[in-house]
Amino acid sequence: MRKITVVGAGHVGATAAQRLAEMELAREVVLVDVVDGIPQGKGLDQWESAPVEGFDTRVTGSTGYDASEGSEIFVVTAGIARKPGMSRDDLLNTNAGIVRSVSAEIARVAPDAIIVMVSNPLDVMCYVAMEASGFPRERVIGMAGVLDTARFRSFIALELDVSVEDIQALVLGGHGDTMVPLVSYATVSGIPLAQLMPRDRIEAVIDRTRNGGAEIVGYLKTGSAYYAPSSAAAQMVEAIVKDKKRILPCAAYLRGEYSQAGIFLGVPCKLGAGGLQSIIEVELSDLEKGALAKSADAVRETMAALH
Ligand code: NAI
Ligand code: 2OP
Repeated sequence: MRKITVVGAGHVGATAAQRLAEMELAREVVLVDVVDGIPQGKGLDQWESAPVEGFDTRVTGSTGYDASEGSEIFVVTAGIARKPGMSRDDLLNTNAGIVRSVSAEIARVAPDAIIVMVSNPLDVMCYVAMEASGFPRERVIGMAGVLDTARFRSFIALELDVSVEDIQALVLGGHGDTMVPLVSYATVSGIPLAQLMPRDRIEAVIDRTRNGGAEIVGYLKTGSAYYAPSSAAAQMVEAIVKDKKRILPCAAYLRGEYSQAGIFLGVPCKLGAGGLQSIIEVELSDLEKGALAKSADAVRETMAALH
C-alpha cells in the first residue's frame, strides 16, 4: 500500500502511526492535526526512529490534507476530550462537527479511501463519517470491538494464567457500558470458558471488560487509553492492507443484520481488501439478543442527541 493517513496526532493517533510504520503497512504514513507543529514534530520524531527500529515507512505530518491525497486508508482519531462544564451531548456535537469536517476532507482528497473510525462516541461518529463522506458502508468501519475483546482476552489470561494467544472471544454491541461480551463464544484453545472458570469469576471479568475504558481513565486522570486502542486500530488496518479476511468484531452499518437497521453496532465482520467484506451473523441466546437490542437502543439514544 502506498499511503495511510492518521487524522488526529494525539495519544491514539500518534501511537497508531508509529505502530503502522513499524508494521510497514504502507510506503508512507501521514499524520494530520489542526495544531501546527504537532503532526510535523511527531511525524519527524517517528521517522527518526526508523533506522533503529528498522522500518522504511516514511512518517510525515501536516495540518492540511494535500499530503494525504490518494491515501487508501484513513484512521480517524480527531476529537476533543470532555472538558469541565461540558455535557455529554456538547461533547457529542463538538466531535460530530470535527468528524464531519474531517470526513468531507477525506472524500475530497481520497474519494476511494476506507475510513477506520476511532473517535468517540464511536458508533455515532461512524454514522457521521458515512453521511459526511458519502462512502458506502464497506468503507466506513469503527474500531471498538477489537479493543473491547482484547481487554476481555487480557483479563481471562490473567485469571487463568494462560497465554493470551490461545484465547478467542467476541464482544458485540455499542462501545460503552452496554457492550455484550459473548461468554458462549469465549474459548481457550477451543475449550469453552465455562469449563475453566467459575460463573462468578466470569461475571467479574465481564464487568471489568465493560469498565475497561473507565479503569484506565481512573489511573491516567487527564486522558483515556491509547496503547491498546492504537493496537486494535492497527490490527484492523493490517487485515485490510493484507486482505487477510480476518473475522474481527467491528462497528458496521447494519441493514437488518441482528434485527437492527440504520445504526452502526459492533458485530463480527470479515475485513479484507476494500474494507468490510461481510457481516457474520452468529447464533445468540435470548439473553444475548436482549442485551444486544438494549445496546442498540443506547446507540440510538446518542444518535437522537445529534444535531
Ligand atoms: P487526544 O486529545 O490525545 O488527541 C486528539 C487529537 O485530535 C488532538 O491532537 C487534537 O488536536 C486533534 N484534533 C482536534 N480537532 C481536529 C481536527 N478537526 N482535525 C484534525 N485533528 C483534530 O485524544 P486521544 O486520546 O488520542 O483520543 C482520540 C479519540 O479517540 C477520542 O475521541 C477518544 O475518546 C477516542 N478513543 C476511542 C477508542 C475506541 O475504542 N473507539 C479508544 C480510545 C480513544
Ligand atoms: C476506551 O474504551 C476511551 O473509548 C475509550 O478506552
